[in-house]
Amino acid sequence: MTVYTFINQKGGVGKSTATVNCAAVTADVINDPTSVSQEEDSPVLAVSTDPQGSAVWWADRVDDLPFRITQVDGNPELLRSLGDLPGVEHVFVDTPGWLGDDPGTTENGNTGLVLDALLSATDLAVVPLTPEVLAFDPTARTIEKVLKPRGVAFKVVINNWDPRDGRADLEETQQFVRSMGWPLANTVIRRYKLHTRAAADGKVVTEYPTNRVALQAREDFQRLCLELNVGAR
Ligand SMILES: Nc1ncnc2c1ncn2[C@@H]1O[C@H](COP(=O)(O)OP(=O)(O)OP(=O)(O)O)[C@@H](O)[C@H]1O
Ligand SMILES: [Mg+2]
Repeated sequence: MTVYTFINQKGGVGKSTATVNCAAVTADVINDPTSVSQEEDSPVLAVSTDPQGSAVWWADRVDDLPFRITQVDGNPELLRSLGDLPGVEHVFVDTPGWLGDDPGTTENGNTGLVLDALLSATDLAVVPLTPEVLAFDPTARTIEKVLKPRGVAFKVVINNWDPRDGRADLEETQQFVRSMGWPLANTVIRRYKLHTRAAADGKVVTEYPTNRVALQAREDFQRLCLELNVGAR
């Protein structure tokens, strides 16, 4: 079983979007097509660790998905038992933007315990980053103060780049990541209005209508999963 955790203490960078869409494109390829209920049988599991369950996407969508889904509220034991679920091979975990600089301290109570349990079960932390300077500092804190001290392997992925804005912001962001010495995914998740609308409707990328734009939107997550070696791990 491989656990991918989408994490960044900067809000709105696309943690939830990337989690559910990576789960969706993976399930689309590896689900058993003869299964009656993908939601119960899929080898793919998406996990929400938002203590309030307030994340836009997760609040709206709890059933009828092409992959399994579960919510872990403040209970680290639940996280440790994820590996006991029979048949689960690929786990994608969403985290909320609540992380402090040192979530492991008792001040942060259960949240810190959940984070510690989660990160020790994580094979790869995926750090979404939007191409904007405002996101740089919180991303640096997440990587330098949360991931590195715990020895968690990670990769940064740029999300929400609008090709119509030109390459300047994208290149500045890529340069920033490289200057920090962080591993950066070649895949860039482009900005599509479809994703924003889908979040409100609780739809995943494999459920979008099959027009050209929707296929491009899906391709980004397929590329990301291929690059992250999902399926081979
Ligand atoms: N590639 C994209 N194209 C278009 N919209 C996007 C893209 N990625 C994210 N969004 C939109 O940006 C908003 C924030 O994304 P999302 O909720 O995934 O971020 P988050 O990191 O999970 O936020 P939070 O920290 O609040 O949990 C949502 O409305 C989502 O639909
Ligand atoms: Mg979220």
